[in-house]
Amino acid sequence: MPTLTFVSPTGERREFAIEAPASAMQVARLNGVRGIEAECGGALSCGTCHVYVDDADVSKLPVASAQESDMLELVAADRKASSRLCCQIHLSDQTDSLVLHIPATQF
Ligand code: FES
Repeated sequence: MPTLTFVSPTGERREFAIEAPASAMQVARLNGVRGIEAECGGALSCGTCHVYVDDADVSKLPVASAQESDMLELVAADRKASSRLCCQIHLSDQTDSLVLHIPATQF
C-alpha cells in the first residue's frame, strides 16, 4: 500500500496510507493538511497546491505537463526543480512512497 507524507515548513510530518488511486491533493484535503488550499479543486488554475517533492522521490514521478509547468510559474513560493502541483500527482500501486514538502509561504 503506497504511503504519502506531507512535511510542514517546521518539519512536522503527516503520513497517510493510500488505499485507492487518488491525487496527493485529494489526500491532503480529505485529511485537512495545512498549507494545501487547492482552491480550484484540481483544475490547474490556482497554484495553491504547490509542493516540493523530496529529492529522493523526484525520479518516481513523470515530468510535469506543459499546463502544470505554466501554472508553476505563478505560484507564491520560489519555483524549484522539485516543484510540482500536488493535484497532478496521482498515487497508485506503482508508487510505493512519496514525500512532499509544503512551502512556507502557504502557511
Ligand atoms: S488545486 Fe488548483 S492548481 Fe492544483
